[in-house]
Amino acid sequence: MTAEPFLTDAGPFAEAERAAVYRAIHTRRDVRSQFTDRPINDATLLRLLTAAHHAPSVGLSQPWNFIVIRSEAVKLRAQTAFAKANAEAQAMFPEDRRALYSSLKLEGILTAPISLCVTCDHSRGGPVVLGRTHQPQMDVYSTVCAVQNLMLAARAEGIGVGWVSIFDPADMQQLLDLPNHVSAVAWLCLGHVDALYSEPELQAKGWAQRVPLADLVFAERWGRRA
Ligand SMILES: Cc1cc2nc3c(=O)[nH]c(=O)nc-3n(C[C@H](O)[C@H](O)[C@H](O)COP(=O)(O)O)c2cc1C
Repeated sequence: MTAEPFLTDAGPFAEAERAAVYRAIHTRRDVRSQFTDRPINDATLLRLLTAAHHAPSVGLSQPWNFIVIRSEAVKLRAQTAFAKANAEAQAMFPEDRRALYSSLKLEGILTAPISLCVTCDHSRGGPVVLGRTHQPQMDVYSTVCAVQNLMLAARAEGIGVGWVSIFDPADMQQLLDLPNHVSAVAWLCLGHVDALYSEPELQAKGWAQRVPLADLVFAERWGRRA
């Protein structure tokens, strides 16, 4: 142990602990259809939000807020906004993919007991934020880190998370009364799950495949295979 104040031991986890971390990463799935109606208790939800709140953030600006939505009326309005955007989205794909696209279930807003909107406050931390001086988008990246923490913690809790992004942002601003300096980064559907796909659902249904890692790793500069 070091005598330096604030430093703490940082050795590797015990083998079973490491395995648990990788299990959460590898078995997490985006969920649309498998939600049970079992409610999420407040203590569990608080653990998930606490995990999200411990994400890294640019300049420790913590630009996130978490809007917990249980109201059926609000969920219904979100589902309506999704349906409108999804019809527009379908038309954007080449004709030969439209039938498959429309067969995919891309949200579970009405069946998940909780919807959680994770927002990014672009004014958080004031006009000059450490680390954000040259790349303002770092606040959104930070917010996404919070979402990822929440998704992994949820997997460990047996709670499925489905990210719904097929919305016109203006509909979200209005639905949730967001001020102009706040954006909705993620609409997440949360609920207990008893089963999960063993591979991404989009892969199982023939929409896309996971790319081999070796195709994506370069050495020293763009394009040079490692
Ligand atoms: C930023 C983001 C937005 C997403 N938006 C949607 C969405 O609108 N609808 C949907 O069904 N899945 C959405 N997903 C889930 C992806 O389709 C899913 O993560 C991907 O197919 C891989 O599957 P897996 O998460 O189960 O491993 C989104 C995921 C991310 C990271």
